[in-house]
Amino acid sequence: MPGRMQTPTAALLWIIRIGDVVGLRQPLQTTCAARIKPASLQNRFHAKTHYDRALRAFCCNKNIVYQSFWTLTADPQILAAPAVTVTAEKYGRTPAQVFFRYLTQSGTACLTGTSSPEHMAQDLAIFDFCLTAREGEAIGAQLK
Ligand SMILES: NC(=O)c1ccc[n+]([C@@H]2O[C@H](COP(=O)([O-])OP(=O)(O)OC[C@H]3O[C@@H](n4cnc5c(N)ncnc54)[C@H](OP(=O)(O)O)[C@@H]3O)[C@@H](O)[C@H]2O)c1
Repeated sequence: MPGRMQTPTAALLWIIRIGDVVGLRQPLQTTCAARIKPASLQNRFHAKTHYDRALRAFCCNKNIVYQSFWTLTADPQILAAPAVTVTAEKYGRTPAQVFFRYLTQSGTACLTGTSSPEHMAQDLAIFDFCLTAREGEAIGAQLK
């Protein structure tokens, strides 16, 4: 009808997430079968699953954002490793910040949970420094 306003076209965004995945089978099947592909995958990040190395590569290849949780709780040995503590000292950061920064630089989105305003501020303050390739390699070597 002339002069009548058009109804704006509704934009519908579907965000599908999968989580608690062991191995590659579920994401592979989900991704292949789904008309709308998963946008992200959330998993515990720990040594028992070899830090999901294969799964992270799969996600990267399929444009699925790999999100880690339990990252700090499960990995105290990484936070205590010299590769992390020495780097933290160099940048005037905490080991947790360096670990989150390493993972972020490597393409992992880190989920964090805290009841401390100080930790929350630290968790968010990882985007104003950058690890060198050598530092990244040294920290990455701890993920075994
Ligand atoms: N999709 C799922 O199935 C699933 C399952 C579990 C969790 N999650 C989500 O994942 C997120 C992460 O939770 P999470 O418990 O697994 O996280 P996390 O990486 O294990 O971190 C939480 C622990 O680290 C401490 N922490 C946080 N920031 C710190 C910092 N900058 N320095 C030192 N310690 C720090 C916290 O203690 P303070 O409180 O003392 O800071 C808490 O003990 C949450 O939002 C949660 O809802 C999702």
